[in-house]
Amino acid sequence: MNYDIQNDIAKILLSEDEIETIVKRISAEIDAHYRERDSRLLLLGILKGSVVFMGDLMKHITVPVEIDFMKVSSYGAGTVSTGSINIMLDLYRKDFANTDILIIEDIIDSGRTLSYLVEYLRLKGAKSVRTCTLLDKPSRREVDFEADIVGAIIPNEFVVGYGLDYDEKYRALPFVGVLKPHVYSGEA
Ligand code: PRP
Repeated sequence: MNYDIQNDIAKILLSEDEIETIVKRISAEIDAHYRERDSRLLLLGILKGSVVFMGDLMKHITVPVEIDFMKVSSYGAGTVSTGSINIMLDLYRKDFANTDILIIEDIIDSGRTLSYLVEYLRLKGAKSVRTCTLLDKPSRREVDFEADIVGAIIPNEFVVGYGLDYDEKYRALPFVGVLKPHVYSGEA
């Protein structure tokens, strides 16, 4: 790795063991909810942050699943949010009416991304649309949105690892950690 974890990470928020426990709990929940359905279950990962969580989840889920991905970006990120979402990679399916979609996210912050996507996929005609996030920061919410499945509720700290980045770095860390402020404030 081309960064110094000891120097960049203030503390571990979720260890590898804690994440594994969460993944097992959530996959059992998904199995129970989607058991005995005729429709197809699609795990829809939102790039890029969800990839590690989604990869672990799909290994533990025992009901048949399909996977696909969307990529979105919000306009005005880092400034005043306009609430507009830009679809960079769309989802194409012939059989939305027979597809139960479970959106997989790494984190909910303002809630704008998921609240937009749920509406968007319902309008496309999906049989059902539910949401699953590893992390939830309810203190940052700007729109009224609750995920159906939440791994852990976390405080408003700058978290990286297990898919989450700062400036595209740290995604490969196997745990979720809090970034030291000097890394993103640019101070030594
Ligand atoms: C993050 C995260 C969600 C979104 C949540 O993605 O993965 O998609 O932001 O924020 P919201 O609740 O305020 O809408 P990001 O734009 O950082 O892209 P990335 O996953 O590629 O890092």
